[in-house]
Order: sequence, then structure tokens, then C-alpha cells
Amino acid sequence: MTAPIRVAVTGAAGQIGYSLLFRIASGQVFGPDQPVILHLVEIPPAMSALDGVEMELDDCAFPTLAGVVKADSDHLEDGFADCNYVLCVGSVPRGKGMERSDLIRINGPIFTSTGQAISSAAASDVRVLVVGNPCNTNCLIAMNNAPNVPNDRWYAMTMLDQNRAISQLAQKSGQPVSEVTNMTIWGNHSATQYPDFYNAKIDGKPATEVITDEAWLQGEFISTVQKRGAAIIQARGASSAASAANGIIDTVKAIANPTAAGATFSAAVCSDGSYGVDEGLISSFPLTSDGKNWSIVQGQSHNEFAQAKIDATVAELKEERDTVKDLLK
Ligand code: NAI
Repeated sequence: MTAPIRVAVTGAAGQIGYSLLFRIASGQVFGPDQPVILHLVEIPPAMSALDGVEMELDDCAFPTLAGVVKADSDHLEDGFADCNYVLCVGSVPRGKGMERSDLIRINGPIFTSTGQAISSAAASDVRVLVVGNPCNTNCLIAMNNAPNVPNDRWYAMTMLDQNRAISQLAQKSGQPVSEVTNMTIWGNHSATQYPDFYNAKIDGKPATEVITDEAWLQGEFISTVQKRGAAIIQARGASSAASAANGIIDTVKAIANPTAAGATFSAAVCSDGSYGVDEGLISSFPLTSDGKNWSIVQGQSHNEFAQAKIDATVAELKEERDTVKDLLK
């Protein structure tokens, strides 16, 4: 029998958790022959809601779900024990009147203890995807507090942004989404992110040859992608959850499987200094995976417009890093 994969999800009783867990448990992520044990982590007041989620998982009778482990955030090591993937979704949401820097300071301590617990309890091959915002800097904090986990195992999610950008380009060009490739999000998962349409392709051709309205690409396209999260909150009265869960699934699959020749995917990883991004920052790049390890795709060129956008988002990441420097080892 195939040994089960253990997947921890923090914030498991939240909105994203509710869209995510059932897809993982059903075999959509790791395939129909791979058993999965879900480790569900929540804060103590949410453990009763988590019991309800567990009952619903039971009631799906998924053949691929080999077990459920529950732990509260006071017992993180139990939650992460022997886990091969840790999906850090839980975090305190941004409240009214709260500045981004306030949010960073509130969530920072959550991610020091998360990093420490992953480091001491997770499986030796663990891979960690941080989704809870501000995800790049939360990931930076956790990585810096996890001495036993190599830096190339840490990811912050920009796949949802990539998917949003692909969808916008497909709609504008009248092509199916499957024809839009090499769409990279650079930098921070925030309103400064840069969706790089210059290196994207539509139907195998440069996107700028297919969509010749460069003013739209430089203006409305970028701002639609950057502000999509806020537009969804405005329309739905709640932040994106199903599409965020889908982004998580796409990211795990992109990490766990070799990337097709010529293709790329976006995730924020620990910079090795490529493209002038400070070494050690968790910044989004064009990546490929061999099924285990990622590489940053080299040799993409950026014109003055693009470079200014990348510089701006990297500058924001540096500011965030400075805000939490006391939490970094
Ligand atoms: P939610 O508020 O519905 O759920 C969050 C859950 O996390 C709650 O159940 C809460 O009890 C739990 N939680 C809080 N602190 C925790 C801790 N220390 N340990 C374990 N669990 C904890 O929020 P939702 O909609 O599920 O979103 C979760 C996070 O994902 C938010 O930070 C949101 O901003 C972020 N997000 C990130 C996206 C990305 O593309 N990177 C996209 C969409 C959302």
C-alpha cells in the first residue's frame, strides 16, 4: 500500500479551508491512488467549528482520505508532526482602519511559532506554502525561525494572481485560458505586484503581438489584477476563498510535478539574488520545478517600464522585512 502523504492546513475552519480540504481529501491534488492524511490546525475558539468540518469530511467517504488529525494553535507540533506539506492559511484578517504594517506586526508572532513548530516536527521533506497575508513576509518570518528546514522549501502564494492575470488576458484576446502561458507575477502578493505581460505568451506568440493595446496592458490590465482581491471583497462582502483554494491546489501541483518544457509558474520563493532581488527576500519569480526542487527561470528581459514595476514591488518587500527585522534570525 502507498504510504499516505500528510498535509497540514492551518486556519482549517476558515473560508479558504472550507473550499480547500474537500478537494485535497478527494484525490484532486495527489491523485486517486495516493492516500492523504489531513492535519487540521485552528485557534482554540474555532475547534468546535473544526469538529463540524471533520464530520463533513467523514460524510464524504472519500477513499483517498486516510485520516484526520486535529490540533489547536497551542499545540502546533502535534499539528505539523511528520507532515510533508504545510499549508499556512490561518492568520488574523486586516480589520477596519488597520494599516498593512499593523497587520504585519500582528501576524508576525504567529509565524515565528509556526516556523519553529514546522522545524521541529514536520517530515524531513516538508514543503511549506504560506497563504495567510501578508504572505510573503509571513513566509519570511517562518523560514527564518525554522533552522531545520532548508530555504528552498518555502513558498508564498502568487498563483491566484497569476490565474487572475491569465483570465484577463484570455478575455481581452478572445483566446481560451489554456492558450495563455508564461504569465509571471513578480514581487509581493499585494497591490504592488507586477503581472509581466511582456514575457507572457498567447497561442505561443508574445502577448503584446496578440493584444496590441499596450496602454490597456500597462494600465487597466495591471490595475485589475492588482486590485482584484479588493474588487471581490466589494462585490461579495467576503474575500476570495474558492479561487484562493484553487490557487493553493495549482501551486502544490506545480511544485510536486515536473513543469512541462517551456512552461513556467509563479510563486514567491527565497531569492538567490536573481534579477537583482535581494538575496533572502521571499519574492515572486518565474519558476520551473523538476518535481522536487524549483529553479528561477533566467534570461527574461525587462524594459524600463517593467523594471520600474519590479523595483517598486521589491522595495515594498524590503520595507516589510525591515518592519519585522526583530523576528528574523
Ligand atoms: P478566514 O478568516 O475565513 O479564516 C482564517 C482562519 O484562520 C480562521 O478560521 C481563524 O480562526 C484561523 N486562524 C487565525 N489565527 C490562526 C492561528 N494562529 N493558527 C491557526 N489558525 C488561525 O480567512 P480566509 O478567507 O480563509 O483567508 C485566510 C487568509 O488567506 C487571510 O490572511 C487572507 O488574507 C489570505 N488570502 C491570501 C491569498 C493569496 O493569494 N495569498 C488569497 C486570499 C486570501
